[in-house]
Amino acid sequence: MLQKITQAKTYIESHLPQGFSPKIGVILGSGLGHYVDLLKNKISISYADIPGFYATTIEGHEGKLVFGEVDGKTVVVMQGRIHAYEGHSLEEVTFPIRVMKAIGVTHLFVTNAAGSINEAYHPGSLVMLKDHINLTGRNPLVGKNLKELGPRFPDMSHAYCPDVSNLLKQTAQELKIELGHGVYCGVLGPSYETPAEIRMMRILGADLVGMSTVNEVIIANHAGMKVVGISCITNMGAGMTRAKLTHEEVKREADKINEKLGNLLNKTIAKL
Ligand code: HPA
Repeated sequence: MLQKITQAKTYIESHLPQGFSPKIGVILGSGLGHYVDLLKNKISISYADIPGFYATTIEGHEGKLVFGEVDGKTVVVMQGRIHAYEGHSLEEVTFPIRVMKAIGVTHLFVTNAAGSINEAYHPGSLVMLKDHINLTGRNPLVGKNLKELGPRFPDMSHAYCPDVSNLLKQTAQELKIELGHGVYCGVLGPSYETPAEIRMMRILGADLVGMSTVNEVIIANHAGMKVVGISCITNMGAGMTRAKLTHEEVKREADKINEKLGNLLNKTIAKL
């Protein structure tokens, strides 16, 4: 594992100018890839070319690691992610987080497209994650623990960093962008939930549901990174409206939120 991380790091760094070492990482969820258009002095590397990375198979996920600058800050952006439901192990799904940590990232912004379980949030809403419930039935830390990467039993009581989350909230207020907050329930997918599952999640205290994020956030916490989570609501949870859920709808709604999300991310990153 350590060797694999070093190989990926070496490959990536061979494509970057000397001393280019971003402290801020961003993961872009389904349909949210336009954020990279806001970056200056971009350098893109395809996942397919990086040792240990996998190309994505899902429409709306570009599959590129993009380096660039925003407001004088350097960032590394994952334009799309891979998911466990594509058949990948959680080690593969979360490998890019390990590599971001190795190249110096300390702050990670994790975004996703999500269904709303809470009647207060609708397609088009941005919701900051205050916590999550892992219902994927898995944990990416199962197996031998490498203490070089983090502790055997990492604390998850502040999985989403309160300080940086507050900064995000404050920035949203300044920009007059409505930003909710809620608990994200992570599921394995790829089928959407049944109405009964959505009702169960609401009883459990979840506000949002999606097929990513939780395992990435566990690894980021294990690695000691500060995490902020933002969900872009693309649909109401199954059974909450008469609509059927489709990936096309998720992509279409995510596409509309890109500009608002990009603005919020950049203005927050500028303050770090
Ligand atoms: N359920 C699970 N994942 C999702 C949803 C949903 O309703 N919308 C976007 N990703």
